[in-house]
Amino acid sequence: MSRHDGPGGGSAELQRPKLVPLHGVPMPDIFLENWEAVEKFQADPQDLLIATYPKAGTTWVQEIVDFILQDGDADRCRRAPMDSRIPFLEFSCKGFHPPGTELLAKMPSPKVIKTHLPFQLLPKSFLDQDCKMIYCARNAKDILVSYFHFDSMNKLQPEPGTWEEYFHKFLQGNVSYGLWHDHVKGWWEQKDKHPILYIFYEDIKEDPRREIVKVMRFLGKALPDTVVDGIVQHTSFQSMKENPMSNYTSVPAIVFDQTVSTFMRKGEVGDWKNHFTAAQDKAFEADYVRRMKGCHLRFRTELQGGQ
Ligand code: A3P
Repeated sequence: MSRHDGPGGGSAELQRPKLVPLHGVPMPDIFLENWEAVEKFQADPQDLLIATYPKAGTTWVQEIVDFILQDGDADRCRRAPMDSRIPFLEFSCKGFHPPGTELLAKMPSPKVIKTHLPFQLLPKSFLDQDCKMIYCARNAKDILVSYFHFDSMNKLQPEPGTWEEYFHKFLQGNVSYGLWHDHVKGWWEQKDKHPILYIFYEDIKEDPRREIVKVMRFLGKALPDTVVDGIVQHTSFQSMKENPMSNYTSVPAIVFDQTVSTFMRKGEVGDWKNHFTAAQDKAFEADYVRRMKGCHLRFRTELQGGQ
């Protein structure tokens, strides 16, 4: 376990990574150890990529996709934890867990692959092979709150600092994968040039059935209504929170300390209101207008009916 830090090398503390720029995008240094294999990754034309900025509902979309591909069979979806069913392409933590590329090399195609990479860092073969891709975006205010809690509990992310410090880091893009604004815009600009389904966390929250059907059609599947109903139920926040194959309790506490914050934390639209001060909201809005100028992407930071 190369990332142990402590007297005799045997303590139960992980040394948190540092951020280093990868083509200008801040990334955890541990991920860069395997970057060459990521760049050279050979996708199969039938492979499906699920791409997101961190905390945009990646795991939710992964579970929805797996349920659709397994024809709604809950037992088959419980065959393994999420990170084994749908590997994380650029993940690497030497001596601790096999890198995403290694897990993927052992899987038969067609496979489903998770990434948080901004569009410009995507391995070329996904585009050469014309792979289908699903991009899920979530409003930046809720992402900020979710990311802060996640970085507090996930020892494979840099130390978040206080909420106030983190707030500024996020707005400066000084977090893993850089600026949220660039990420959502980068994928948005490509969505009509490649087979990309661009969906929103808030839309799934508002009407999960409608969005599940959208994903199902994109995947070229047709499932009976009763099966779709089952998928809606099995992929609800409560079901996924209780399911050890989707709630990340399989990750050792030395990595994900779920006593600090649970992975399946709140699952709401608008939780930012419980964290942002009035001054932070003002600063956020001014920065948002500047960074998103000229972009037609629209995000909802609350849902009617307060879901
Ligand atoms: P919160 O921290 O706001 O609760 P990712 O999978 O990209 O890391 O995103 C994690 C976020 O998605 C967390 O947000 C988590 O609770 C939320 N999430 C996961 N599954 C969900 C579901 N079925 N319904 C609603 N939110 C979900």
